[in-house]
Amino acid sequence: MIEKTYCEEVKPELDGQRVKLAGWVYSNMRVGKKIFLWIRDSTGIVQTVIAKNVVGEEVFEKAKKLGRESSVIVEGIVKADERAPGGAEVHVEKLEVIQAVSEFPIPENPEQASPELLLDYRHLHIRTPKVSAIMKVKETLIMAAREWLLKNGWHEVFPPILVTGAVEGGATLFKLKYFDKYAYLSQSAQLYLEAAIFGLEKVWSLTPSFRAEKSRTRRHLTEFWHLELEGAWMDLWDIMKVEEELVSYMVQRTLELRKKEIEMFRDDLTTLKNTEPPFPRISYDEAIEILQSKGVKIEWGDDMGADEERVLTEEFDRPFFVYGYPKHIKAFYMKEDPQDPRKVLAADMLAPEGYGEIIGGSEREDNYDKLVQRIIEEGMDPKDYEWYLDLRKYGSVPHSGFGLGVERLVAWVLKLDHIRWATLFPRTPARIYP
Ligand code: 4AD
Repeated sequence: MIEKTYCEEVKPELDGQRVKLAGWVYSNMRVGKKIFLWIRDSTGIVQTVIAKNVVGEEVFEKAKKLGRESSVIVEGIVKADERAPGGAEVHVEKLEVIQAVSEFPIPENPEQASPELLLDYRHLHIRTPKVSAIMKVKETLIMAAREWLLKNGWHEVFPPILVTGAVEGGATLFKLKYFDKYAYLSQSAQLYLEAAIFGLEKVWSLTPSFRAEKSRTRRHLTEFWHLELEGAWMDLWDIMKVEEELVSYMVQRTLELRKKEIEMFRDDLTTLKNTEPPFPRISYDEAIEILQSKGVKIEWGDDMGADEERVLTEEFDRPFFVYGYPKHIKAFYMKEDPQDPRKVLAADMLAPEGYGEIIGGSEREDNYDKLVQRIIEEGMDPKDYEWYLDLRKYGSVPHSGFGLGVERLVAWVLKLDHIRWATLFPRTPARIYP
């Protein structure tokens, strides 16, 4: 490894000091006998100045030809200069070209390229500053979640990805050959987390989840990162409190640590700052009334899709909950509402500004007979869920949990126009390469 100074460390305070930068050419502009070579690394961009009378004719000619993304090592002296980005530039004394590139497929401003080009060249696109910023924000949100979960006594567990049953409906299962049987890619770790609460009480996991969703929307991936929690002795209202505290901490901490990156995407931080709990709570019934009053054609009992949720988010300037959904549009494991058997004790958290659902959660059916009945009603075979049903036979307790779609949260925090930009190599029905 080479001893180097990172671009973000080049500041006016280093004036007069010698530094060695290692990175990639971000832009190359010649003005008379000088070349302004902007160098990029994982931390930022620095302006370097190559003067013919310092480096000599040969190096100057070589530098002139360096295209974007050429890899270089430069050594030189820092000069404080208000005109340079970051207030300092490096006057180059030595230039080492690791690999010269003549043409890079992604334009300097990737927004000028079509999404198709960026996705075809995603392996090259991900080195651009805005993609790096998205990945840093995602990493920080997860780091913050870990901090919060550790502080609040939640145990991390590592559930399997190869599974034998559906959690969220058979229609979106990816099936694969497993020796002489079939298996599926996990849609959610939930059932395994439910088993884990009997030993650890408060558990969480972060796993890839898979959905063979053919729907090509701005908020669906076929592979996404799923942050799931499951807590024993908790009812729906308890788990909603956990959800808002966790999301609040994740967003506030990321605002604190990654403001610069967030501001590359957002001028207005209001909705992110508005994440102090409690979040507003409205019932499904109220949501339907609001939608009908705004002219949306929807009846009690209908599921809310992205369009309906978008309209609903216009009413809020912060994340909010919708609770008390009709039973027939929700999953088999959700506990029936004892006050109204048409409903289940479920709540989704919706992000404002049109983003909609980022969390799906519920209290779980903890009664053996009722759970068997729900499995049959959904057209499934209780035999396939024998181990899961055992959990209702041996010391069953009230419990609740939820799943947060990490890329959906990132998409909202950064106001991305599509969830695919929130993941390193997006997987959608149309794309599994690169
Ligand atoms: O609402 P979902 O389907 O709930 C579950 O999977 C539960 N078993 C989770 C649990 O209770 N442990 O998914 C949870 C969240 C959604 O709110 C959404 O944020 C995200 O996962 N999600 C997706 N994100 C991207 N692409 C998809 N196709 C997604 N499907 C769900």
